[in-house]
Amino acid sequence: MMKKEDYRFTFEVYESIEELPEADSWLLKEARKVTQHAYAPYSHFRVGAIARLTNNEIVAGSNQENASFPIGLCAERVLLASAASLYPEVPIQALAISYRNENGESSHPVSPCGICRQSLLEFETRVKRPIRIILGGITGKVYIIDKAAMLLPLSFSADELNT
Ligand code: THU
Repeated sequence: MMKKEDYRFTFEVYESIEELPEADSWLLKEARKVTQHAYAPYSHFRVGAIARLTNNEIVAGSNQENASFPIGLCAERVLLASAASLYPEVPIQALAISYRNENGESSHPVSPCGICRQSLLEFETRVKRPIRIILGGITGKVYIIDKAAMLLPLSFSADELNT
């Protein structure tokens, strides 16, 4: 007999960065700054990501594009690769993502793309700790999501590789 399953996605919404706990607002401010390090001459869409690891180290990522467009890397995966290379197996406690458009502006949060969701989830699984994800533009509302797993229901995992 067919039945329907429910997936419930909840996240926190703040009216502005002013409402955030200090540790989160610091990370988001740094993520806004690191958008300046993006190399995005093709999309003109600059993304910045900053993480605090559980050993208190701070790691940054920004999108890095290429004239052969599919080669470009998203800020989130640049950050994950750096974190895993600099501090292997150290979990990420929190990760802020911001962005700016061609005019240097953005007024609402954007969420990680599908490929980055998969990568974030696998990082969580690998180090056995959820990543607190803080999303916000240069201005406007801020979203906080408890873990990357929330962003990818019915996800594909390495467990399936052996079935
Ligand atoms: N981008 C990111 O860096 N992160 C995302 O989550 C979405 C998209 C980048 C990829 C590309 O360089 C530009 O933004 C436009 O898609």
